[in-house]
Amino acid sequence: MSIEKNNNAICATGLSKRFGKVQAVSNIDLTVAPGEAVGLLGPNGAGKSTTLSMLMGLQRPDAGQTTIFGHPAGSVAARAICGATPQSTDLPDQLSPREILSYTAMRYGTPLMIDQLVSRFRLEKLIDRRVAGFSGGELRRVALALAFVGDPKLVFLDEPTTGLDAASQEGFQETARAYVAQGGALILTSHHWDEIEAVCDTIALIDHGQTVLTGRMDSMRARANINRMTFGMPDGAVPPEWMQAHHDGQLWFLETADSDAVLRRMVEDALPFQGLTLEPLKLKDLIDRIRQEETS
Ligand SMILES: Nc1ncnc2c1ncn2[C@@H]1O[C@H](COP(=O)(O)OP(=O)(O)OP(=O)(O)O)[C@@H](O)[C@H]1O
Ligand SMILES: [Mg+2]
Repeated sequence: MSIEKNNNAICATGLSKRFGKVQAVSNIDLTVAPGEAVGLLGPNGAGKSTTLSMLMGLQRPDAGQTTIFGHPAGSVAARAICGATPQSTDLPDQLSPREILSYTAMRYGTPLMIDQLVSRFRLEKLIDRRVAGFSGGELRRVALALAFVGDPKLVFLDEPTTGLDAASQEGFQETARAYVAQGGALILTSHHWDEIEAVCDTIALIDHGQTVLTGRMDSMRARANINRMTFGMPDGAVPPEWMQAHHDGQLWFLETADSDAVLRRMVEDALPFQGLTLEPLKLKDLIDRIRQEETS
């Protein structure tokens, strides 16, 4: 496949990066399509930020290459269609968010969409104040608005919601989903598994610089089609042995691939259960299951 014909938002192959004795990233391949959100997960020091910065063209890989909509990472053509929020926020102290956002929008040559971003990231009270003295979360919200202000085709977000309150996290998730639904491509790192689950279609789990698991969320769910049933029992009653249910405080729970059959038998046995809820496994448990399956 020639580079020019490659329409992927990101196409990276064999990315590697070493810092002295540390092999930060080792032979990572990654593809992101337009209209796709990819989440990079992994412990501290796994290599997520280093990977993102190579994809953005900020750091040169020791090996491997990346194209952004067919353009080499870091090229003027690639940078013109990308927005980004780095892991640490550094904004010019003496300017207001309105000035910073306006200059950035002008640089990208895009129509101003500042009003929309102000309400999405709740910047109403901050927009005309100088950035000096902003709290960590306030700076972060401005940085998030900056990532989207150039009407980018692809957005890189490194831990975008670290330090944000719950309402701002929710605002971010809505913005990200709307952006992807309109065909935008997005790659994000986060230690909030719930956020990755809410925003991303695909995940890549990275450890010691290597991809240890990658896949679309829906196919992982189909592969490990397990639900968690949670219920209460009255007055210290205990569920029967066949259910293999576990305690979680006052509640009981079990995980099963056939919740219909379990529920049918609970009714047949006339169990006095209360407040039964059924929900798919959380992303963390889902990934643990799949990894266990793969290593057993
Ligand atoms: N400029 C650098 N110089 C030396 N070592 C570096 C440099 N940048 C990253 N590293 C090392 O490379 C490894 C990967 O770092 P990276 O920042 O990519 O991890 P991360 O997955 O983003 O972690 P976190 O979740 O803490 O943000 C770490 O061991 C880190 O110490
Ligand atoms: Mg990082």
